[in-house]
Amino acid sequence: MLSIPSRSGALPSTVPAISAGGNFDFAALRRREFARLDELGHCYLDYTGSALYGVSQVNAQAQLLAAGLFGNPHSESSTARASTAIIEQARAEVLRFLGVDETSHLVCFTANSSAALKLVAESYPFGADRPLLLSADNHNSINGVREYARRAGAAIRVLPLNAELELDDPESVIDAVATAGAGLLAFPAQSNFSGALHPLSLVRYARERGLQVMLDIAAFAPSHAVDLRVCPADFVALSFYKLFGYPTGLGALVMRRDVVPLLRRPWFAGGSVRYASVQADLHRLQDGAEGFEDGTPNFLGIAALAAGFGLLREVGMERLAAHVASLSVRLLDSLQSLRHANGAPLVLVYGPHDRTVRGGVVTFNLLDQQGAVVPYATVEVAARDAGISVRGGCFCNPGAAEAAFGQEPARLAQCLGRLADGFTPQRLADCSGRAVGAIRASLGLASNASDLDRLVDLLTRFAASS
Ligand SMILES: Cc1ncc(COP(=O)(O)O)c(C=O)c1O
Repeated sequence: MLSIPSRSGALPSTVPAISAGGNFDFAALRRREFARLDELGHCYLDYTGSALYGVSQVNAQAQLLAAGLFGNPHSESSTARASTAIIEQARAEVLRFLGVDETSHLVCFTANSSAALKLVAESYPFGADRPLLLSADNHNSINGVREYARRAGAAIRVLPLNAELELDDPESVIDAVATAGAGLLAFPAQSNFSGALHPLSLVRYARERGLQVMLDIAAFAPSHAVDLRVCPADFVALSFYKLFGYPTGLGALVMRRDVVPLLRRPWFAGGSVRYASVQADLHRLQDGAEGFEDGTPNFLGIAALAAGFGLLREVGMERLAAHVASLSVRLLDSLQSLRHANGAPLVLVYGPHDRTVRGGVVTFNLLDQQGAVVPYATVEVAARDAGISVRGGCFCNPGAAEAAFGQEPARLAQCLGRLADGFTPQRLADCSGRAVGAIRASLGLASNASDLDRLVDLLTRFAASS
């Protein structure tokens, strides 16, 4: 019998510990886990794109793989059981991270957040009596849910944004939609466009009116504690590379057990059925999470989760949130104080003015001396040349981008209709007369003040030379 390694996520004794307590040493953590950033002279500010993995995660995974024998979990061999044990430990670890356990929740492993959201989209019983309610601020992986709703004849309503990209009186739209006492509300806990933290109180508000709530925590969870006892969302989607960089290709749909009977899976696959018969034309899905996991799960990727969670636990989510929040304030202060020689502001920051409702994302455009937006792609190229990773564009979040850039709906529809197959961001900008993209700097575990200074220096030099 093979022994199954314990995957508690505790760091191996060879890894130097970093002082715990109130004053966590983030600089020491950066030297221990992310030394390659400074060795390579790179400034990484795209944590909402992906977190960076720590070196202890790489070592833990290398040791596990080198010493272990892991087979396809869909059998009864000892190698299969080793993989199954790893998967079950990982499910428990994910639930622990979210403040709940298997008595109330299921963890279904998926390829990423998009696949988790799609599992709900394709299985939720949308219909004339079950509408879909979406925030205008959503990643396209939630916007796409509307195609399933539309096909089922469900009404689709959008929660609008105000000028600071916060939800504008969402309760009244929920009240209007929830008259039938059923439907699905889907929104992100943190905007991947502006960093706006949307009110988690909406989860209870909507549920008390009979809606189910799908909460996208892909951008929120990497630097905030999430407690699903306090925030009882029915469906929660996340990607693990956004939490701790490795593994890629792995996410999860976390569901309340009491909502699972509502879902109707549209098909079955290897791994998700207890039985299927060709002659009898019958099948029965697996109970629980496995009924939602099509094909062979990413069992070696799942094996890497313990070390990632171990790293986050060592830091502590509250300390990480405070670290990211203080760096965000510093970056906002620096960017907003930049001026052209004529006194005109150099940077236009999008999103809430109230910094307590912003996560570690700062999205902005450079302005010229006359106040016109400098095309984001120019800044993106300059950042790349300076060894700085930021993201340019609309970040797969057209709703927040349209609100940020003041797109006018009729004009936008006309331009998109006219451009059709010839669409490029630049052509849309030319047609609509509005910006179509911005630069996003997003912060995380390894970020430090010199990363921010490097970005600010670049922008200052960029403005001086333009
Ligand atoms: C808020 C949010 N939701 C969903 C996604 C989609 O994540 P994935 O590409 O891992 O499926 C992202 C990715 O950036 C995101 O930021």
